[in-house]
Amino acid sequence: MSQAVGTTLSLKDYLQQQQASEQLQSVLFSLTEACHSIHHALTKGALAGVLGAAGAENVQGEDQKKLDVIANDLIKDSLGKNPSVRGLASEEEPEIVACQTDGQYLVTFDPLDGSSNIDINSMVGTIFSILESRGEHAATEQDFLQPGRQQVAAGYVLYGPSTMLALSVGNGVVMFTLDPSNGDYLLTNNAVTIPEDAKEFAINMSNQRFWHPAMQRYIAELLEGAEGPRGKDFNMRWVAAMVADVHRILCRGGLFTYPWDSRKPDQAGKLRLMYEANPMGFLVEQAGGEVWTAAGKILDIQPEHIHQRVPVILGAKNEVLRCVEYHGNA
Ligand code: F6P
Ligand code: MN
Repeated sequence: MSQAVGTTLSLKDYLQQQQASEQLQSVLFSLTEACHSIHHALTKGALAGVLGAAGAENVQGEDQKKLDVIANDLIKDSLGKNPSVRGLASEEEPEIVACQTDGQYLVTFDPLDGSSNIDINSMVGTIFSILESRGEHAATEQDFLQPGRQQVAAGYVLYGPSTMLALSVGNGVVMFTLDPSNGDYLLTNNAVTIPEDAKEFAINMSNQRFWHPAMQRYIAELLEGAEGPRGKDFNMRWVAAMVADVHRILCRGGLFTYPWDSRKPDQAGKLRLMYEANPMGFLVEQAGGEVWTAAGKILDIQPEHIHQRVPVILGAKNEVLRCVEYHGNA
């Protein structure tokens, strides 16, 4: 649950309170400034001619939207100028991009998560993860392949009715609201926690017939509600933008899953480990929730490549652990 506060504490004030290094602060400012520009591009929408397809596919084989490309370029330009950034990796870039050889940080990001929502004027967001760089050489893909537990900071900017930044620098989760008139991010939630129990779940139900039997059983029991083994009714939500579904879970609890399914049996899942599951997982664990595949904690996975996919079960502790346990017994 998020704790609303009436405050004018800025992102800069908060990072100073947290004793974040000057370099980490500057990386976060580069990211959030770019997100302020993305906010304006999204707000103008059709008036700025930014809606619709870009006419190309990304490395994942997904059709790129114009705004995917615009958001990617804004973040890439902003981070690329920052002397503290050793390298970056984006959903929209086939390879990692090396930046300053002596930069202290590596940044992975999904420039515009949920981009199928763009053309229906619905919620989208930017997700980011910050890792420390090692040694003294130009960034390589190998440098990025660190388990999510080693993230020094992670967060997202959600472009909704208001634009909000959710952030963890490893000491809990806080949320800021953007003042679009001047680009200030002001602290509006200072203690985000996910209750251990839940009454709400998020999954794309249309894929039900393709799920593992353990996931079929877990969701079937939720749907049976008060008359079933769970003895209570559950509500369902699906925004089709992970960033917005996880934001709801940070604000009022629940479970979110995009599980493995048999449509592409050799593909681990739909979501990407390094710029979707890991940063969201860092936030959810920092807020007291759990973040698993059916077999283990996501933040402990040793990544093998930058665009790796992973099944995701995250949110309320007791629900996630029950769902994982069903898979163990299956
Ligand atoms: O980035 C992938 C993504 O858009 C997520 O943000 C979202 O949770 C999911 O895909 C939606 O997938 P589907 O269209 O299968 O419901
Ligand atoms: Mn995404």
